[in-house]
Amino acid sequence: MGDQMPLTVVVGGFFGDEGKGKVVSYLAKRDRVDIAVRTGSVNAGHTVMVNGNVFKLRMIPSAFIHKEARLLIGPGANVNPTIFLKEVEELGVRDRVGVDYQCSIIEEQHIIRDRSDAHLAKKIGSTGQGVGPAIEDRVRRIAKLARDIGDLKPYLTDVPLEVNRALDNGKYVLLEGTQGIFLSLYHGTYPYVTSRDTSAAAVCSEVGVGPTRVNDVIVVFKAYVTRVGGGPLEGELSLEEAKRRGWFEKATVTGRIRRVAPFNFKLARRAVMINGATQIALTKLDILFPDSRGVKEFDELGSEAKKFISKIEKELGVPVTLIGTGPDVDEMVDRREELGLRRK
Ligand code: IMP
Ligand code: MG
Repeated sequence: MGDQMPLTVVVGGFFGDEGKGKVVSYLAKRDRVDIAVRTGSVNAGHTVMVNGNVFKLRMIPSAFIHKEARLLIGPGANVNPTIFLKEVEELGVRDRVGVDYQCSIIEEQHIIRDRSDAHLAKKIGSTGQGVGPAIEDRVRRIAKLARDIGDLKPYLTDVPLEVNRALDNGKYVLLEGTQGIFLSLYHGTYPYVTSRDTSAAAVCSEVGVGPTRVNDVIVVFKAYVTRVGGGPLEGELSLEEAKRRGWFEKATVTGRIRRVAPFNFKLARRAVMINGATQIALTKLDILFPDSRGVKEFDELGSEAKKFISKIEKELGVPVTLIGTGPDVDEMVDRREELGLRRK
């Protein structure tokens, strides 16, 4: 155990739904994170599974499973108060959750606008959660902020101050990105993107922490690529082929069927570059290689699975430190110690 307490940023390397919820919840538990901050909004659903219990989170950080973690939502995020308050009650985290004063608010009118706008609803295939229109209003400087909402009062806090103070005091902070780099407003497949930048740098900006404070950027890739909504997807498979390979998935928030394609090294290289990745987390390895299901030691992985991981490391030049081998939070190979990369 080293004595340097890291600021770790976790982001998606493809089009979202890479399994960030699983990676963040694993890190929170294993590393006993002190503060976890979520970014983005309710269009992004993060799934966490603990002992067979599934949680689908749209506002609360996936780190909630570590009971000592303070859970924050950064000022760049967009809060739907109804969904936030519901999750707070369901998860029983009332006494350790905080929302920044400056988060902007999603109102019913934003949801209506999102769903009735043919461009957003049909062409882009938005999730219909009102996020894009809420951000439009924020940019026009007419949005309501969290500080204006009575029901949020008990939770209001200065997230940048909390996070930077915690880092000053040697605490461990984890930032949870949402969506993936190719849905980024700046770096994605515009116009088929979401309404914010999804890069590691943008996550820091949304939280209010400077880039010099970051120790690790973990880019999460799924063992194959999925995307929901419109836009290009190189190597896209037919629905039948996706089912045959066991890659069939439905979206967390909208229930739509996800489009699928094989792992894309070219996209992955670009994701590593733009995010400044120091580590890679690879999820759903067990879907590609069923003999890896539930494995927790690298040496126990099959030779084909190991070959796939070596190829990723060789092509991307970044170590694969975390490998998901099943949906439960503990179904993970953690190579950080072995590679000398575990900071806490
Ligand atoms: P919006 O973010 O709801 O405006 O949707 C814009 C595009 O981003 C659509 O193609 C959505 O399917 C996609 N998208 C937004 N959030 C997520 C996510 O969390 N996972 C996957 N796709 C997303
Ligand atoms: Mg998701």
